[in-house]
Amino acid sequence: MKKIEIIKPDDWHVHFREGLFLEKLVPETSKLFNRAIVMPNLTFPIVSSNQASEYKKQLLDFSKNNEYFEPLMTLYLNEEIDIKDLIKAYENKIIFAVKLYPAGATTNSSKGVKDITKTYKILEAMCKCKIPLLIHGEVNNKEIDVFDREKVFIDNELTQICKEFPNLKITLEHITTKYAVQFVNNTKRNLKASITPHHLILNRSDMLEHTIKPHYYCLPILKREEDRKALLSAAFNTNKKFFMGTDSAPHDIKNKEADCGCAGIFNTINCIQVLAQVFENNRQLNMLENFISVNGALHYELPLNSEKIRLKKVKDPINFPNVLKINNFKIKVFKPNFKIFWQLES
Ligand code: DOR
Ligand code: ZN
Repeated sequence: MKKIEIIKPDDWHVHFREGLFLEKLVPETSKLFNRAIVMPNLTFPIVSSNQASEYKKQLLDFSKNNEYFEPLMTLYLNEEIDIKDLIKAYENKIIFAVKLYPAGATTNSSKGVKDITKTYKILEAMCKCKIPLLIHGEVNNKEIDVFDREKVFIDNELTQICKEFPNLKITLEHITTKYAVQFVNNTKRNLKASITPHHLILNRSDMLEHTIKPHYYCLPILKREEDRKALLSAAFNTNKKFFMGTDSAPHDIKNKEADCGCAGIFNTINCIQVLAQVFENNRQLNMLENFISVNGALHYELPLNSEKIRLKKVKDPINFPNVLKINNFKIKVFKPNFKIFWQLES
């Protein structure tokens, strides 16, 4: 029987939502991970230190199953952010990073950034104080095809941000294209990227051929097979520039299976096992620990977790629950298109 032991992982990109959802979702993350970067795109986005610390308190209340669990809070980049408040919140470890959503690009992003130059004062302060900038890298422009929006963002916006703020620590979140992989690989500056489990597994044909699969719909949208292959090689790369952010983004099933279905895939409860299988299927199991437990911590200059987790290869495929129930809500659990034989030992 095959077993592996690796450093306990962190989730460098997760959506916990708010209200009723927290009680169920937060412990699912805190039992698996010691740290999680928490996204701020709530119905009323987190734009001040008070909101961040109120939200963080709620998360800590629901993460008592792991005494080490640390929610790393982010502020939603917006022209109106008070720079003094931001710096103080960072120094007091209330917030960890700032998230840039191009306005309208994804869920609850209408109050995001319309003109990046209007946030330059904030970015300047972040540079000085070494506050990381996390980026949803897609332009929101009707003229640009949805499949090209990451590339156009890199060419028109990211390149400009990099030029203006060469010392800013940047994470390009949930990258989806070969183009993004090459951009990150070729840059000499402090820019790394997170990759989701689902973008390592699916391409756009998986979502669209023959029948439409709303539970594979996420943003940035799934791309071509050659893009998926490039993401896989990035995840297996020894250059430590790429790490897992699950982008686990739950929506009630009614809002996924709808005329206008929401973007987001919920993968928290099986992401580690699923990734173990992906890495093994590609004969790269020895790189799993770097991708889920090491590279992100190095990028954020945080210590590696001292705890370990163990995974065991079993004979029969594992059945994960189909949905997670929260009162009257149902959240569909991500189902990859292959069987999983890796079990997490408790
Ligand atoms: O698929 C996604 N869902 N992508 C995002 O960028 C946001 C997320 C959400 O919050 O629903
Ligand atoms: Zn996200």
